Amino acid sequence: MHKPVLLNEVIEYLNPQPHENFIDCTIGEAGHSLKILEKTKPDGKILGIDVDAESLKRINSAERLILIRGNFKNLKQIAEDNNFNRVNGVLFDLGLSSWQLDESGKGFSYKKDEPLTMIFNSGQVVTAEEIINTWPEEELINIFKKYGEERFARKIVQKIIQHRRLNPIKTTLQLFEIIKKSIFFSRSGHSRADRVAARIFQALRIVVNDEMENLKHGLEQAFQILNKKGRVVVISFHSLEDRVVKWFFKDLEKQGKIKILTKKPITAGKAEIIANSRSRSAKLRAAMYIGEI
Ligand SMILES: C[S@@+](CC[C@H](N)C(=O)[O-])C[C@H]1O[C@@H](n2cnc3c(N)ncnc32)[C@H](O)[C@@H]1O
Repeated sequence: MHKPVLLNEVIEYLNPQPHENFIDCTIGEAGHSLKILEKTKPDGKILGIDVDAESLKRINSAERLILIRGNFKNLKQIAEDNNFNRVNGVLFDLGLSSWQLDESGKGFSYKKDEPLTMIFNSGQVVTAEEIINTWPEEELINIFKKYGEERFARKIVQKIIQHRRLNPIKTTLQLFEIIKKSIFFSRSGHSRADRVAARIFQALRIVVNDEMENLKHGLEQAFQILNKKGRVVVISFHSLEDRVVKWFFKDLEKQGKIKILTKKPITAGKAEIIANSRSRSAKLRAAMYIGEI
């Protein structure tokens, strides 16, 4: 069953009230949005955006929930096109839903043998397979270091280059095997190999979907469509994203435009981590709009 991450905390920081309107930039399976809709009865609306058309098809239609396929890097335009010119809050729950990871067949997980695609939507042009098989050595090392924070990046890339000279690398399990062969993992090092693979897969996904740029554009536009005292809540799942959010908020606070509501990022409690392992790395930051942007 789908469990939205940090659900109570999202509600606490977005603080939805009757009649208010919100935008969920990453509607996914609508877990957060359905809860927000309960709080905004009788006529508060949500504009739910997702870049993945398949994800949108999985959501049961609900009254007061408008679904749009789109990328939150175009948030302002999408909001205007749908008459959501001013809203009380904007939510970003970044990354992948558990459905996309486990069942989408797009190669996001190293635990299943799937083609190395990693694209959220068909508009994207470069697949993970193309990157792995055609990008120069130094560029691969660079993205694994930068977006995966992987210290064995060079060794892994050398192994990838050796392999791709003979045969193209086409599937997730092929790539996972190469990662395992490139570094020495002791017998008890299974989970370490998993962690390295998770970082490499993360880096590829970030590049394929241009995730860091999307986030910067999305954050900038979110504050431009808020009512006074409206809130932005962001849940991120890795330190690169969290850093972008942290510094973006700090900068706007210095300019007197927003008030940061979370001095430190909010993380999941023990019970939630046990019930939903995906919440382990979640960090929530929230801010309130107080001045001219
Ligand atoms: C973690 S899930 C959201 C889960 C959702 N909060 C829920 O409770 O079901 C993230 C979703 O964001 C979508 N997504 C990722 N990047 C996006 C972008 N740039 N624009 C719009 N949606 C995006 C993904 O397709 C995925 O469905």
